[in-house]
Amino acid sequence: MSKKWSISIPASTANLGPGFDSIGIALDKYLELEVELAVEWKIDNLSENLPIVPNPQDHLIVQAAQKTAQMHGLILPACHVKASSEIPLARGMGSSASAIVAGIELANQVLALELSSHDKLKVATLMEGHPDNAAASIFGGFTISSSAENGEIHVFHAYHIDASFVLFIPNFELKTEAARNVLPESYTRKVSAQASATANLLTAAFLSQSFEQAGIYMEQDLFHEPYRLDLIPQSREIKAQAKKAGAFGTCISGAGPTLLSLVQKGTEEEFVSKLNGIFPDFDLVPVTINRTGIVVSKNKKGSAILVH
Ligand code: HSE
Repeated sequence: MSKKWSISIPASTANLGPGFDSIGIALDKYLELEVELAVEWKIDNLSENLPIVPNPQDHLIVQAAQKTAQMHGLILPACHVKASSEIPLARGMGSSASAIVAGIELANQVLALELSSHDKLKVATLMEGHPDNAAASIFGGFTISSSAENGEIHVFHAYHIDASFVLFIPNFELKTEAARNVLPESYTRKVSAQASATANLLTAAFLSQSFEQAGIYMEQDLFHEPYRLDLIPQSREIKAQAKKAGAFGTCISGAGPTLLSLVQKGTEEEFVSKLNGIFPDFDLVPVTINRTGIVVSKNKKGSAILVH
């Protein structure tokens, strides 16, 4: 029987304001791969939202898969990959983390590596430089992670949080590297103590599902938002209008340029209708939290397996 795998990886939002490079939430938008062994590498794009990469060896999915194989002293056989994606590129919805996690899972399946979720997060963090998006894509749900200078990774995940979000997805891109380049190299003790206190409060508010409070802390970040908001045209107006339309809080999703509003469950459509048309460069998209993380099914007929 020829071997085939279907791999589904959720999108993610990161930071949630003050949880810079640490907090992530998996979202119900997906990168999906159909994989089978082949004579040479081939990647077919079956949807929009995928990069056009003439040489498969330059493709992030293949690079992540090969790095995973290499780290285990193995050579990855060539595969034919059919990809489709609902995650727009360079918008702050974790498209590159999803591609990296997809590549790691591809290698895990094809080489039967039996990697733990923690192992996958280690490889993804090596490639991305920060674990927040990848942790959410791997585990699903709400994740808190950290990566230390010595390579040690810590991660906590929670699945009970029943929050509702609306994304403001712009029709323009912002590369993460450009959005990281505007950040300061260091912060004073006063600023870092305040910023970390706000992040602690945000975490406690989410974990206890106190969304009104979470919305307040989402808007009080000192680590990155003050430096990035000006890279996103209309971001300040969107934050103000979203509040008037009933959002608990609005922050930059990941490195931007998408913005994310936390809203009362059940009010998503009403919220969108209040703001529709005001920001023509932005699509307003309600999203829910994905709670599965990576899902793999084998040989099509096989049932889906949650692999974290
Ligand atoms: N934590 C990252 C950042 C997320 O804000 O730069 C984007 O990859």
